[in-house]
Amino acid sequence: MKTILVAVLAVCGSCAYAEAASEAQLKARLSDVFVKASAHYRALDAAATPLMRDASGRPRVPHGWLKWKTGKDELDMREIYWWTSGHFPGSLWLLHEATGEAYFRSRAMAWTELLRPVADYGGNHDIGFMMYCSFGNARRILKTDRYDDLLVQTAETLSRRYEPSLGLIRSWGDIADRDHFLVIPDNLMNLELLEVASKISGNPRFDAIARGHATKTRQNHFRADGGTYHVLDYDQRPGFLGSVQDIRRGQGLSCRTAWSRGQSWAIYGYAMMYRETKDPAYLAFAQRVADFAIGHPGMPADGIPYWDFGAPGEERDSSAGAVMASALLELADFVGGAKGAAYRAFAVKQLLALASPAYFSEGDEIGHWLLKHGVGHKPGDSEIDTPLSYGDYYFLEALLRFRASVSM
Ligand code: GLY
Repeated sequence: MKTILVAVLAVCGSCAYAEAASEAQLKARLSDVFVKASAHYRALDAAATPLMRDASGRPRVPHGWLKWKTGKDELDMREIYWWTSGHFPGSLWLLHEATGEAYFRSRAMAWTELLRPVADYGGNHDIGFMMYCSFGNARRILKTDRYDDLLVQTAETLSRRYEPSLGLIRSWGDIADRDHFLVIPDNLMNLELLEVASKISGNPRFDAIARGHATKTRQNHFRADGGTYHVLDYDQRPGFLGSVQDIRRGQGLSCRTAWSRGQSWAIYGYAMMYRETKDPAYLAFAQRVADFAIGHPGMPADGIPYWDFGAPGEERDSSAGAVMASALLELADFVGGAKGAAYRAFAVKQLLALASPAYFSEGDEIGHWLLKHGVGHKPGDSEIDTPLSYGDYYFLEALLRFRASVSM
């Protein structure tokens, strides 16, 4: 795969012109996309606000669109402990960053504040997604230390899922379960919370846990070609400790193929771990997992992957494309040179596709979510070819990363 990428770079002297044209095209699209995205999220917020609490007063957050299930144009509201609860507030924060509009700041704040109790939720690894996309963005964008204690408290909660004898965070399952210890590549995303909490608090343990988990995952969770497994079950028995006792397909097609969003989480996770630690092993590994995706023979020409790399011709997953684009823009800067330029060009191509009518919604065609054609969990027959709140979030993040890298 790496050889293919290097060969493409070598013969592509004229690519520079095409790349500059694509960059100019995306730059020219940005303001229209942010204007339309703002209108969509104003409509979503208006529809969701009356549903903010269920009949018993429990808080809920927009997660997606129920048409795939009920055939009706209905918002899918989920409890605050669902893994995506940070993405809708996070998108509102990103729209505040994009537009400067006070409306988005105030609505982002209102939805974010609902999530406070999640800081103590230890049921899975996802509190990084929930709390960092919401409170983490509030902290970053408002440049405030008001949320520091809460983020450190959240990191403490996540750290309780770390098992020192394995050097891993248990992604799913009860921490007392001695028969199974399940880990998924999505978990890499939640290490950002630990890294930031380590810097805020000065507690090196969070950093050590994040590095331990990222390193063990790098050693065990990928095939020789850089493709990821979804679920690994680690053995905890003395004598077998740390060996992989089972591989499960999880949300992917099979144990022999790579689930696209899992691959994107891995690219993002290792690029982020390099940003936070400057350990070159993570930078090298981010490139390896990125090269698998970019150079895969089943990758479509527009750069938006099928939902699994082993399922060419089936549904695309726009969320996997959005996460990958955001990750590649960051990775491109770290790598630099011709290879960095190739990562950036790939991300720009993906963003142009996502911002086109093929993916970017018009009017209320998908209940005002931004991106069409996401796949949540195909083997579970759940959320196939539908908008997903996290697809929108990483699309907006990628557009902002692009905007920050060009002069407007
Ligand atoms: N973390 C779950 C997913 O990516 O669907």
